Amino acid sequence: MSQSPPIYLDHQATTPVDPRVLEAMLPYYKGDFGNASSATHAFGWRAEAAVEDARERIAQCLAVDPNEIVFTSGATESNNLAIHGALNATPGKAGSVVATAIEHPSVLEAATAQRAFGHRDVQVPVAASGLVDPSEIAAAIEDDTTLVSVSAANSEIGVLPDIAAIAVDCHERGVLFHTDAAQAIGKIPLSLADTEIDLLSFSAHKIYGPKGIGALYVRRRRPRIKLRPLVFGGGQEGGLRSGTLAVPLIVGFARALELCVEEQEGEAARLRGLREKLRLEIERSVPEAVVNGDLEHRLPGNLSVSIPDVDGERLLLDLRGLAVSSGSACSSGSGEPSHVLLALGRDKELARATVRFGLGRGTAEAEIAAAAGALAAAVRKQNSR
Ligand SMILES: Cc1ncc(COP(=O)(O)O)c(C=O)c1O
Repeated sequence: MSQSPPIYLDHQATTPVDPRVLEAMLPYYKGDFGNASSATHAFGWRAEAAVEDARERIAQCLAVDPNEIVFTSGATESNNLAIHGALNATPGKAGSVVATAIEHPSVLEAATAQRAFGHRDVQVPVAASGLVDPSEIAAAIEDDTTLVSVSAANSEIGVLPDIAAIAVDCHERGVLFHTDAAQAIGKIPLSLADTEIDLLSFSAHKIYGPKGIGALYVRRRRPRIKLRPLVFGGGQEGGLRSGTLAVPLIVGFARALELCVEEQEGEAARLRGLREKLRLEIERSVPEAVVNGDLEHRLPGNLSVSIPDVDGERLLLDLRGLAVSSGSACSSGSGEPSHVLLALGRDKELARATVRFGLGRGTAEAEIAAAAGALAAAVRKQNSR
């Protein structure tokens, strides 16, 4: 008996490559396979031209200069480059990084790892809404603070803190500001033209582009940000990230971002409508469900709900027909409750009994009713045991 595939509602984990993106990439796997660093022949020149064109288009989407875009393997590497790079830019000088307690592990672990180099890391708590009060960030800045890192959108609960205000505070105190925009880019308006953001991480596979490519925006003027590279070698990307450039992925990345920016307004409204439909349906059929995180300052396609008095593991098993994410750290295989939900004040059991719905480009209205129905049935099944 063939089983239909689960309904994909995990767009915060990753997204399918848009066919328009794949089409843009294909020539660079075929005839145009050159190395962008080969300066002696046409294969290299064409590859280099494709990379520079992509860089320009990405820069345009963010209203920044093309030479402020550094290609990496993804947001994990971009976050590591920003944190490691800023703290170790001046050899022998100890610094510190201030981040919120709900940052992605690639920020928090990168910050903790800096202890081995003589630096400090500070975690600032968030409110029950998941939002951080900018004044709490300002209060955590000390004389040795090099960098503040606050994500533009949280990966689990989708909340959108006031990063523009935090960035202004940072510059007033002479501190760099980094934001992890892996979840935010292409989903909410994000122009860097009039912001004080110094470093911004993003990734292609969250925006219907290919996996394995991302970028770090590095401010070049007022002030020019100095970073120590993580990867040394042939000196690509202005010496900040050596290694042969992934031309097809870079071309796909640019197309993916352009499409998201072009379609952002309409798609955001559509997803917000579907998300609200899902929320209201769950509110009606599972009234005990608790929504995690602020609803107003939130990604349009994200809904995270916790269900009191149910076994989280069993809940996920009973939701096999839905591709959703749980409230535990599955990425590490540890099954530990999510640090984000604990930081919101949820207890361990409630944190484990959490479902993150990530709606996206492929999500249809009929799937919303099916998802809400599946959740209600899974909860009823446990309550009747
Ligand atoms: C907020 C955030 N930062 C960083 C990452 C890591 O991105 P990548 O998979 O591109 O390394 C993710 C992906 O889960 C994320 O949601």
